[in-house]
Amino acid sequence: MPIKLVTTVADLHTESARLLASRRGTSQGLVPTMGALHQGHAALARTAVEQNDVVVATIFVNPLQFGDATDLDRYPRTLDADLALLEGQGVDLAFAPSVDEVYPGGTPLVRITSGVLGEKWEGASRPGHFDGALTVVAKLLHYGIPGAGLPASGVAEAGLPAYRAYFGQKDAQQLALVRRMVADLNFPVEIVAVPTVRAVDGLALSSRNRFLSGEEREAALVLFRALRLLEERAKAREPLDLESAQAMVESQPLVGLDYFDVVDPATLEPLAENCRETPFRGEALALIAAKVGPVRLIDNVPLSS
Ligand code: PAF
Repeated sequence: MPIKLVTTVADLHTESARLLASRRGTSQGLVPTMGALHQGHAALARTAVEQNDVVVATIFVNPLQFGDATDLDRYPRTLDADLALLEGQGVDLAFAPSVDEVYPGGTPLVRITSGVLGEKWEGASRPGHFDGALTVVAKLLHYGIPGAGLPASGVAEAGLPAYRAYFGQKDAQQLALVRRMVADLNFPVEIVAVPTVRAVDGLALSSRNRFLSGEEREAALVLFRALRLLEERAKAREPLDLESAQAMVESQPLVGLDYFDVVDPATLEPLAENCRETPFRGEALALIAAKVGPVRLIDNVPLSS
């Protein structure tokens, strides 16, 4: 079925309600994006389509999560290609609102605060980023609540449809924060994490990869190699020896390491020293961020043994 583009919240509600009703659907999935879509987003969309009767993807470059106006202006806008990619995955509706539609009163006075979890790691180098991201995610999650456009009698008859929203594991801190917001503020939605999609050489797909030169892209592979080393050590129940993996990244001249640590997957607090030195047991996340040429890259792998 061709994808339908809507730009207002009212049309989103009308069209999603129409689709739910005509399919006698019992579930709706939401895939929030900022566009410039790649195969990582395709995996989010595909998973949502497999699990839901109606799927909405949002395309909105959120000014609130950019520290710098130049970065906001430079963010790639590729609506036609984005629509084609979403349609290829079977998404029903693309919601691409204007800034005025999302923030009709201008910059919102009341926002979501991401707390200490939003101040560390990526938050340390991008102050305010996660407050801005969570504020728009809260709004998008509200827009996507299924049944908002159905008459009350229709909802009562059919019962409330299930509601799921899809986020990439690649943005581990954003995912942890969204989960925390949904739990702390009782949002009626299940958050589904979709594994990171990688190029054949292991580089995690990201809209920023397009800004890497060939040489920088080659250098960036050390991030994945270092993460994989930890993954293998964890699986083998060996000491993680994070320091040797850090040294491997630091030996690459084109890569400026920002952080590389092993953390609790929910709180993102670093694991105690002794977990790194003794044979690894349990569940953790290895997080890495580095500047490669002009591009800041992040990646992570889950560790388990
Ligand atoms: O991950 C993103 O693309 C954005 O942060 C999100 C979740 C769409 C909010 O603007």
